Amino acid sequence: MRTYLVTGGAGFIGSNYIHYMFEKYGDEIKIINVDKLTYAGNLENLADLEGRSNYEFVKADICDKEAISKIFAENDIQRVVHFAAESHVDRSIKEPEVFINTNVLGTTVMLNCAKAAWEKEDGTFLDDHKFLHVSTDEVYGSLDNDPNAYFYETTPIDPHSPYSASKASSDLIVKAYVDTYHFPANITNCSNNYGPYQFPEKLIPLIINNALHGKTLPVYGDGKNVRDWLYVMDHAKAIDMVQEKGKLGERYNVGGHNEKQNIEIIHTILDTLLEYLPDSDPRKANVSYDLIKYVADRKGHDRRYAIAPDKIKEHLGWYPETMFKDGIKLTVKWYLENEEWMEHVTSGDYQKYYESMYSNR
Ligand code: NAD
Ligand code: TYD
Repeated sequence: MRTYLVTGGAGFIGSNYIHYMFEKYGDEIKIINVDKLTYAGNLENLADLEGRSNYEFVKADICDKEAISKIFAENDIQRVVHFAAESHVDRSIKEPEVFINTNVLGTTVMLNCAKAAWEKEDGTFLDDHKFLHVSTDEVYGSLDNDPNAYFYETTPIDPHSPYSASKASSDLIVKAYVDTYHFPANITNCSNNYGPYQFPEKLIPLIINNALHGKTLPVYGDGKNVRDWLYVMDHAKAIDMVQEKGKLGERYNVGGHNEKQNIEIIHTILDTLLEYLPDSDPRKANVSYDLIKYVADRKGHDRRYAIAPDKIKEHLGWYPETMFKDGIKLTVKWYLENEEWMEHVTSGDYQKYYESMYSNR
């Protein structure tokens, strides 16, 4: 049985990935999920796995070398899939240090502990032991002017926000381990994900939640910034394919050529909510285009992201299975059916954060 150490598995993409992996491999794998449970980590995302014998949760900080080494010492970890990170650009603008700490130092601790566990006396590594670092297309910066330009694996990194700078730094540390020690790792750089269990500080769940409650829908700047959206399960599939079939040491871009302006996304969500909510549902009366409000732009707001997924398609045969028109419906439906989940994550700390972020916008 292959054992995985998944970091940040209680977050949005990590929890979807764990579901994907158990769906695909069943009892052929064991997953140890290591998560600090920050405001963004929610074990409710994995409630259906409680009691499963091949799943274990360990509450730990990836910056805690002792805790991470202990997990490697007590288990034959064959795969590391490293999601844990601070992930929200707006928060990084307010509080960069925590991003450097978790994303850069935490990644270095993960690499160091895996290297210590997997390195043989002759400096080579145990066979079939691999590390996958989950990263973002935001490390490439912004495609401002040329509408036909795309991010390739060879595009020079040029991050702008503290978040993307911390992710670019962590990518470089992974590359340094590959180049220096021939450490068995891959990096994936994926575009914006959407789907179930996404924390409602990110555009899509924030708009769904606010619209259902008749709250303002804040559009930063002119609303024409472009993001390249990918359904989260297609990302999970890509991660597994890169780890099992990718060439060690290489970077793969992940994205489905699905560029949309933010304002288009907001319109699609409103239309989908109005289509799905029956007239008898009291939430329907709250949903309205009048809620849209143009607010102050994000500082250093990247204009456009767009991934060229040619390499992962040609080399590994990956392609996105869920088209945006279907994925957004699945997503809206999930949030409509999981109101309790939303209530739980929007109480407490998140609420305080939300007020500090939007009170003067
Ligand atoms: P998320 O914020 O939803 O989840 C992050 C998880 O990491 C949470 O469970 C949190 O508790 C945990 N965590 C944070 N700090 C930790 C620490 N010090 N120790 C242990 N656990 C810690 O993030 P997400 O959207 O699921 O993103 C996961 C990864 O994918 C990140 O590395 C992010 O950079 C990358 N990524 C995200 C997107 C996207 O659109 N969301 C796109 C491309 C890449
Ligand atoms: P976000 O979901 O934070 O992802 P990222 O910044 O990592 O791409 O934001 C997606 C886009 O939506 C981005 O251009 C900023 C914009 N946005 C708004 O216009 N209003 C909002 O309230 C939020 C959270 C984002």
